[in-house]
Amino acid sequence: MTDDQAVWTEADSATFLNLADIAVPSRQEQMDLILSLIPARPDEAFATADIACGEGLLAERLLERFPAARLVAFDGSPLMRERASTRLRRCGARARVLPFDLGDFAWTDQLPSPLRCAVSSLAIHHLDDDGKRRLFRELAGRLQPGGALLIADVIAPGSDAVRRSISGAWHAITRQQSLAATGSLDAYEQAVAEGWAPPTSAEAIPGEMPSGLLDQLKWLEAAGFSQVDCFWLRAGIAIYGGYRPGELVNIVVK
Ligand SMILES: C[S@@+](CC[C@H](N)C(=O)[O-])C[C@H]1O[C@@H](n2cnc3c(N)ncnc32)[C@H](O)[C@@H]1O
Repeated sequence: MTDDQAVWTEADSATFLNLADIAVPSRQEQMDLILSLIPARPDEAFATADIACGEGLLAERLLERFPAARLVAFDGSPLMRERASTRLRRCGARARVLPFDLGDFAWTDQLPSPLRCAVSSLAIHHLDDDGKRRLFRELAGRLQPGGALLIADVIAPGSDAVRRSISGAWHAITRQQSLAATGSLDAYEQAVAEGWAPPTSAEAIPGEMPSGLLDQLKWLEAAGFSQVDCFWLRAGIAIYGGYRPGELVNIVVK
């Protein structure tokens, strides 16, 4: 990660690995929903990509749910790639973990073709508005007809009232997750101390460039996606995306 926008560090990776189950609201529910939106039968052979896969949790769940699918998992963090590679090793040649810089787009040449689905969780906000628009266009050009781009990400609140509501929901959910997972609020308090709570002001945070949800839905449509929608929204995280127009053809991936 070299450009000015990309300030995710290995320390961030270590903190995220440690705290994500507490600091990310309803993480399992998010993954369940993304998997349910993938346009494929469980037994189909098709190719997918996870953009900024982190430790590979979503990738692993996807390959379990679709046992004939293949997946390329990209991430810029060596620590995350090591974790993802270890996690996905049992999937053999069905999973490949590759380095990438989200913002340089050279990595899109390494996407499988035909590509049925691209997923991404909690990473697209590391691109600015232009970067997101370009990402949507690049993926629209590479997904097969009927294929999907499915994103879970932090979105920019449209007003101070929404910002306050997001903050309240995040604190309530992550407190409850901390108590349920550990019996104490220590992990919740650590997540707050490490800066994982949603911002309480509109002040920009270096490297964090969430965009408004409505803008992103429009950009997806402008890029050529259809059935563009927000499928889930809680505590400032939305699951949204769209499908390439056209009939899904069952192209077997070798
Ligand atoms: C919040 S984590 C999410 C990880 C995973 N998708 C998940 O939901 O558990 C963000 C991920 O994006 C990666 N990342 C952030 N900025 C990046 C960039 N500019 N290029 C490549 N990867 C990046 C980080 O290494 C990290 O794995």
